[in-house]
Amino acid sequence: MRIDLLTLFPEMVACVLRSSILGRAAEPRADGGPPPVGYHVTDIRDFTADKHGKVDKPPYGGGPGMVIQAQPVWDAVQHVEGQDATPPERILMTPGGEPLRQPLVEELAAHPRLLLIAGHYEGMDQRVIDRLAPRRVSIGDYVLTGGELPALALIDAVVRLLPGVLGNEASAERESFASGQGGGLDHAHYTRPPEWMGMAVPEVLRSGDHAAVEAWRRADAERRTREQRPDLREGGGEATP
Ligand code: 6GU
Repeated sequence: MRIDLLTLFPEMVACVLRSSILGRAAEPRADGGPPPVGYHVTDIRDFTADKHGKVDKPPYGGGPGMVIQAQPVWDAVQHVEGQDATPPERILMTPGGEPLRQPLVEELAAHPRLLLIAGHYEGMDQRVIDRLAPRRVSIGDYVLTGGELPALALIDAVVRLLPGVLGNEASAERESFASGQGGGLDHAHYTRPPEWMGMAVPEVLRSGDHAAVEAWRRADAERRTREQRPDLREGGGEATP
């Protein structure tokens, strides 16, 4: 998968995309095959026609803050789309977008190319949004200063689903929210020692009885979902946006 990220703050995303599992997912494979993902971060400021490098102006109609102009965003999108013949799924990160949930993550992970646009300040000139007609995605009902952290959250959620990224392919399917898991929460996890601060690991997990372990985990996942996120239970409908 190719992921393009357009931002005014490329330094904000660079270290995250180099770190840990996201970083490793973009490194060349030992067998010479292509990595699961390639990241292409583009600074929107490189496309401004303004001689002072500005990309924002005060809003028409007045009010606080600044608005990102249409032209640099449009030119940046044309530039990166011209770099590769694969047409991307265009996504604008905005608090007013469709909420990012695991089914949407799974859908995006099936695309060969994503183009994420991270806005900043009060927003972006509506005309470039109308012309690009991107999908609009939010990561939750709270307001952040920009779309960079939301874009990284989306990238992280998508990339961990790509084949060859997680060591154990099964682990992505079993975790909280995975559709194969019924969309509920994950069960509790324990590791050594068997007793810590007077608290014992549930006996069944040490019994070696795989069927009993599976049954305990299913029941624990159901109990946690019921207690912590009753809105996620099957038939319980979607969380209120
Ligand atoms: Cl995508 N952008 C901003 N600025 N704030 C957010 C968000 C996005 N999602 C939740 N809050």
